[in-house]
Amino acid sequence: MPDVYNWQLGRKMTYRFPERHSRWQFAAVFNINRCIACQTCTMACKSTWTHARGQEYMWWNNVESKPYGGYPHFWDVKTLELLEQANPGGQTWTLAGRDGRRAPYGVYGGKTIFEAAPRGQDYVGYLPTDDEWRAPNLYEDTSTAYPTRPGRYHPTGETLPQHRTWFFYLQRICNHCTYPACLAACPRNAIYKRPEDGIVLIDQRRCRGYRQCVEACPYKKPMFNAFTRVAEKCIACYPRIEGRDPLHPGVPIEARCMAACVGKIRLQGLVRVDADGTWVEDRYHPLYFLVHVARVALPLYPQFGTQPNVYYIPPRWVPRPYLRQMFGPGVDEAIAAYVAPSRELLAVLQLFRTTKRMIFRYRITPGRKVFETTIDGKPWAMYNDTIVGFDRAGREVVRVTVEEPVFVRPRQHLNTI
Ligand code: SF4
Ligand code: SF4
Ligand code: F3S
Repeated sequence: MPDVYNWQLGRKMTYRFPERHSRWQFAAVFNINRCIACQTCTMACKSTWTHARGQEYMWWNNVESKPYGGYPHFWDVKTLELLEQANPGGQTWTLAGRDGRRAPYGVYGGKTIFEAAPRGQDYVGYLPTDDEWRAPNLYEDTSTAYPTRPGRYHPTGETLPQHRTWFFYLQRICNHCTYPACLAACPRNAIYKRPEDGIVLIDQRRCRGYRQCVEACPYKKPMFNAFTRVAEKCIACYPRIEGRDPLHPGVPIEARCMAACVGKIRLQGLVRVDADGTWVEDRYHPLYFLVHVARVALPLYPQFGTQPNVYYIPPRWVPRPYLRQMFGPGVDEAIAAYVAPSRELLAVLQLFRTTKRMIFRYRITPGRKVFETTIDGKPWAMYNDTIVGFDRAGREVVRVTVEEPVFVRPRQHLNTI
């Protein structure tokens, strides 16, 4: 198999096809700390794309409660186990090779799902059982047990930096991976990655229902339609990305699950990609800033090797070993950056869910100091800066301040709208 460069692993890896990249890449950042699991994203997607016959169990977007929840059940644990079996004790990282954009998390020394493949196969994976697809939100809101008082709350409760009893919500869509396992697995070559935006699609006319895409995708995001006998998956709402939404003609807008997010946890966009699959430096692009400058947002299970394009701000209360397994060795740096955000990061975080239009660049105008405190013993100040977002053509699409403005309803309108 050819060698390709995977910057999330800081090294080359084997993949079925030679290196070739889209010019732009669909990408997103999800802030786990803010998610309330209202499932508005889930229903926005469901009511748009998957309400037909054969799609009853399809949740292209789902929000699961970790550590026990998952859809299909235990999807991640099962794939982690496969990697472990192929390479016992070897799934380790070394920070020694850290190198800017090309190896921001150091170097992964273990095996990816492509490298752990049995002889004669291109990947290691498994096909979930029907039972595992049955309950999309099993273990919702189920926390870990309290170590010393099982079944009871501790009288002193929990405090940061890490809770002893915990859970968190994980928001999941197809990652529109740079090296999609689904694409590599399909014997019909029915799956393709679009050169203009990196969106991964299944050609419904070519698909013959072999389901190897379902078996190979470590995130289990292709789903088989037993009625039409072909596979389907998240399409990144490509008509909206292309500016073909009838309500917003000609304007590229974010996907449905992003635009509907009540908790304001999602920011989606398109990033420019270099010939080796790394992101072209774009200092004032909000996604580039969050992933490569502030390093507050991390890929989900980078060790799987598909180079996923949805990034997560990890939940700050969760024990670090669990998070390091899930998001790689960048977790401690990301949480430190989030807990005491820089002036610039605090401003960029305000852009989440302020507009449906995709933001390609931002500019910050300094404001006055409005608050000061200490965080972890160090002084920290908040400034009421203004951040302005621009679209691809350089037009202003949003303007927002760090402090939320307060509007007082006049007395005569107290009970009216
Ligand atoms: Fe394919 Fe799965 Fe990656 Fe989506 S998440 S592109 S379905 S490998
Ligand atoms: Fe569904 Fe669109 Fe979100 Fe994909 S991007 S999960 S198709 S709403
Ligand atoms: Fe290929 Fe998956 Fe269809 S493997 S044939 S796209 S079910």
